[in-house]
Amino acid sequence: MAQATFHFPRGFLWGAATAAHQVEGNNTNNNWWAWEQEEGRIIQGQKSGLACDWWNGRWREDFDRAAEAGHNAHRMSVEWSRIQPAPDRWDENALDRYREMMRGLTERGMTPLVTLHHFSDPLWLSEMGGWENEKVVDYFIPFVNKVVEALREYVNLWVTINEPNVLVTNAYVMGVFPPGKTDLGAMYRATVNMIRAHALAYQAIHKIQPTARVGLAFQYRGLLPSKTWSPLDRFAAGMQSRLFNDLFPEALVSGVLRLPVVSRHIPEARGTQDFLGINYYTQEYVAFNLLKAGEMFGQRSFHPQAELSETGFIANDPEGLFKALKWGMRFELPILITENGVEDSQDSLRPRYIIQHLHQVWKAVNFNFPVKGYFHWSLVDNFEWERGWTQRFGLWGLDVETQTRLTRPSADLFAEICRENGISSEMVARYAPALFESMFPN
Ligand code: BGC
Repeated sequence: MAQATFHFPRGFLWGAATAAHQVEGNNTNNNWWAWEQEEGRIIQGQKSGLACDWWNGRWREDFDRAAEAGHNAHRMSVEWSRIQPAPDRWDENALDRYREMMRGLTERGMTPLVTLHHFSDPLWLSEMGGWENEKVVDYFIPFVNKVVEALREYVNLWVTINEPNVLVTNAYVMGVFPPGKTDLGAMYRATVNMIRAHALAYQAIHKIQPTARVGLAFQYRGLLPSKTWSPLDRFAAGMQSRLFNDLFPEALVSGVLRLPVVSRHIPEARGTQDFLGINYYTQEYVAFNLLKAGEMFGQRSFHPQAELSETGFIANDPEGLFKALKWGMRFELPILITENGVEDSQDSLRPRYIIQHLHQVWKAVNFNFPVKGYFHWSLVDNFEWERGWTQRFGLWGLDVETQTRLTRPSADLFAEICRENGISSEMVARYAPALFESMFPN
């Protein structure tokens, strides 16, 4: 039997990623909590409730698990509505609690990567029109200053906004995130405001902490033509990919937001990334469809032969991660994989998914792509937005009623990878024997 190990570079960051609203519980003062109370918004009327109960202190046991499993980093977010419960009020206790969590990470040998905005907004902000209102920038910057001042002792790595491309798509085109609109004008306004908010936050963070490394986390999704010979499919796929994948990061390089018919100059955005954060889950195929005007005339679907996740949300397409990293190379920045994972309550696909995706990362690293770390989504099953609790992304499972954690084989596999800083043939033989032949041919 062939024996080998795919090694990763020294100092590679290994960890999991989480987000405040999905794990803390009782985030009653934000737009998601309000959205969850509305009928028909969340699958089966499910609610975040106590989530993973982090706000009451269960972060400790989950950080213990991560540290024991060899993670040397963790990506988490802070909840704006806790820190600034009203426009004219800061909650110092909430900031203290986040400081405690950061100390908790560093004491356990894990480097914190903190996301300042991960999908949820304070209620007072959404009542003012949220990201559509240009005033959001005037509120975001003081919030960022407050957090960075409070956490700078522990944190050097910052993500300003998580997946601005998913947020504007889901909130203003698909209507599945609050405020539930299908309005391209609103999407445009929110996009401009997010780019400005990021740019000014980048500058604000560097002013407080000159050594900080600041970026965003973009979701990169391969959007390929269904029929490569069809010019219409190629047109629709190209448009969707431009808007979803390229628009934001290109604006942060050039200072220009280049839409199909108009360009908007945002000069302050130029050169405002120290690293590129990529979230990768899957890729899709796009067929031209006249009825999909709001989606650039593209109907998306997975490859007919693709292996799908439990609820059909993700196709296991590891080569798409290599393509995502290759796409990321054009920005000439260090790259962090800020999310990657699959929903799988039975953990029947996840071990393979992890190995196959990390194999692609290893390949990229060996082509000298500057990939510096990998954060698995997620540490523990958590509240999956409009999909509620029906999707289970955790290395550890969660019984929401009893708050009991269940160790999945993937948690052990990932632990071995973190400790080894590599993937060995022996791990593949034990956790995903079906892959052995193709990964380690005799
Ligand atoms: C988001 C996470 C989410 C994950 C899986 C990403 O788009 O950043 O918050 O839980 O996908 O759905």
